Amino acid sequence: MGYKETLLSPIKIGRRECPNRFFIQAMECNDEDETGNPSESTTERYEELFRGEAGLVSLEAISVTRESRSRDNQLMIMAPNREPLTKFVQRVKAANPKSLFIFQLTHSGELSNPAFSRRVTVKPLPGYGGELLTEEEVDKIMDGFVLAAEIAHDAGADGIDMKLCHGYFGSQILRPYNDRKWKYGGSWENRSRFAFELYERIAKAVNDPNFLIGSKISAWEGFPGGFGTAGVDSPVIDLTEPIALLKGLEERGAQFFIQSAGSPSITISLTQVDKHVPYFAYLHQTFSKAFKDHLKPETVVIGSNYSVFRNGKNGLCAVNQEESSLLHFGAKCIEDGVTDMIGLGRQSFADPYLPKKLREGKEAEIKYCTVCDNCLELLIQQSKVGCCTFNKRYTDILVQTRKEKGKLTVAHT
Ligand SMILES: Cc1cc2nc3c(=O)[nH]c(=O)nc-3n(C[C@H](O)[C@H](O)[C@H](O)COP(=O)(O)O)c2cc1C
Repeated sequence: MGYKETLLSPIKIGRRECPNRFFIQAMECNDEDETGNPSESTTERYEELFRGEAGLVSLEAISVTRESRSRDNQLMIMAPNREPLTKFVQRVKAANPKSLFIFQLTHSGELSNPAFSRRVTVKPLPGYGGELLTEEEVDKIMDGFVLAAEIAHDAGADGIDMKLCHGYFGSQILRPYNDRKWKYGGSWENRSRFAFELYERIAKAVNDPNFLIGSKISAWEGFPGGFGTAGVDSPVIDLTEPIALLKGLEERGAQFFIQSAGSPSITISLTQVDKHVPYFAYLHQTFSKAFKDHLKPETVVIGSNYSVFRNGKNGLCAVNQEESSLLHFGAKCIEDGVTDMIGLGRQSFADPYLPKKLREGKEAEIKYCTVCDNCLELLIQQSKVGCCTFNKRYTDILVQTRKEKGKLTVAHT
């Protein structure tokens, strides 16, 4: 099969069918209104992604409580958001009813921004801190996730990504670092309790076999005691627990997993591979292959960090440029059983129409992400986020942000 046929071939997730192998990653853009509902600008962004024809689109991280936001203008999913979210999904799906839509449910935990949220922690990390959570408070957080899943379902979403990655609450509780002696810490049985019970409760509450449930998971957070390490103070990669997590969630009905790595407030270049270390992307393929190898063939694995491959001009050495492009290498990863779908994050800002252009034979018109990471700078500065290279609106926002707040030196920009 040629790369185009591979990438445009449909795939089943649970009982649903995705028209192609492109997945739009959750990408926070901080442009929602003050009540956490999608603004006109949010809606237009997603309409555009749907018109671009990716098989599966993820909504950016949507917070299950107001006090667990990491972004000032972040989406929220509580009872008052039900109706606005329903209207939002209707509008977005009207742009293209074939693409599937999942919501990424999150609680920021120790990454909740103290300027407008309550920073809480399962065990304080040096330099982060936060109020120590009680068992009762964790039970309440779980209630918030269950309600959020029901609202997502009622609003017309096709499924949810129960976020267990990038250092947010869902991954904080899983870490070996969480060795506190409590119901949710210490042994693997205790640390996995939150994720496992939550899946069981969500499946029961939603009670719809057509509704997709899965998680984005950081296979290795990249710091001592992070998820995917060998122990509370070890940075050494050990996938025993990530694999146990995948299999435990699969048993409880998960139909897909989005592979990721890192905890961006600590290990930013691991989560968003940058142009100075493009070969870190190969680590992601190593992790997604490990996911595939331990899951049932019908459980869909979505790989991440394909933006950095670009049109082959990517700084990767000892490879043929054309075969190393996002399209060629992405298709090869699918054909080689490394992944089932290709996640597009920063690339989806650069060109939301990539899948459609590929289908229409307009590959030459695809705009490739330059991996400048100015979008990341906007996110960290709490500005509205988009592509500063190809969309003048965001170039102007970047200029204004730097004028008001100074230029930020993101680790790798
Ligand atoms: C501006 C920005 C916002 C992001 N927001 C989210 C998010 O809401 N949820 C999430 O899981 N990852 C988020 N990420 C990470 C991406 O989804 C993705 O995992 C990462 O960028 C690597 O993919 P890429 O190389 O295709 O960009 C964000 C990244 C950026 C740059």
